[in-house]
Amino acid sequence: QRRIWLDCDPGHDDATAILLAVHVPGVKLLGISTVHGNASAENTNNNAARCLYAFAAPEDIKIHPGATKPLIRPTRHDPEIHGIDGLGGVEGLPPGTYGDVQERLDHTGRPPKAIDAIARAIEDTWKDGSGDKVTVISSGPMTNIALFVSVYPELLDGIEEFVFMGGGVGIGNRSSSAEFNILCDPEAAQIVLDVPVKKIMIPLNVTHTAIVTQETLHRLLSPGTSYSPGSAPAKASTKLRHMLWTLIWYFAESYKSTFGFMHGPPLHDALTIAYVSSPEMFKCKRYRVDVELSGTHTAGETVVDIWSYRDCNDSWGRDGKNCIVVESLDVASFFQLFLECVSRCDAV
Ligand code: BDR
Ligand code: CA
Repeated sequence: QRRIWLDCDPGHDDATAILLAVHVPGVKLLGISTVHGNASAENTNNNAARCLYAFAAPEDIKIHPGATKPLIRPTRHDPEIHGIDGLGGVEGLPPGTYGDVQERLDHTGRPPKAIDAIARAIEDTWKDGSGDKVTVISSGPMTNIALFVSVYPELLDGIEEFVFMGGGVGIGNRSSSAEFNILCDPEAAQIVLDVPVKKIMIPLNVTHTAIVTQETLHRLLSPGTSYSPGSAPAKASTKLRHMLWTLIWYFAESYKSTFGFMHGPPLHDALTIAYVSSPEMFKCKRYRVDVELSGTHTAGETVVDIWSYRDCNDSWGRDGKNCIVVESLDVASFFQLFLECVSRCDAV
């Protein structure tokens, strides 16, 4: 079983990443930390707890609050895509104040904040004699991760790999050239790209292929029944499926009105967990990746050196290629895995 830590900013697609992190085979979720991003840090923290409760996660998985703002730049949220509280339009989630949701927050003494909780998880795993390491996953701005690698450099060897949803190869979504997670905190992303840990970037080019189509929605709502194009959506067969349907519906409307996506929304963040559980679904290549930190029009752009212009030895004595970039996904297998996780969650 691969041990994972998820740092996220829920967020509709982050919520689907949490569902997978809890229910995907071959993975043990050690904990979750939250960061500013799609909504305020307070909202993303609450939302993660609401999701853990709704997805029937084991009670020992706790949520740890992290950075409330980027390292240098002004804070930005994305109510146009995710609603004011980050999970706009999602029906069937309890409020953050609900007692059982509050239980998901770590109340032991003074709860460790994100970076200390990540450190503890790595220490407990790596130093337990098994030689196991932790895969750290990021589905939001990388502020927490940049702080973690800066404060705890001695624990970098305890990280198996760092998998993140972010950036694009020649495309952006929240500026002409930058993707939201990187745009929120470009300096943090560059700090992380510079650390000598294996890194896997899942860019927009690939996440935009993971579209929830009408057929997938049908399989979500009425598993085991056949789909005929154009038919009206069935009523969800369980509360969980209804919740996920409202989540996807809201996200679809955002993507339609903001980006003109007419066939459904992309489940960006869920791909990080799918990558850890089923890497064979993905095709990847190693490149030099840096973040534009000073461009007048391009701040936050991920500069992926596909022609190897900057392919020189770096300070760790390796060639300059610092990041594995995912280039394609077996979309059908991904949605099969997603629906299997829904069924597993339903069965708890
Ligand atoms: C990323 O930004 C947010 O809208 C999503 O949660 C995802 O992590 C996509 O650019
Ligand atoms: Ca996210």
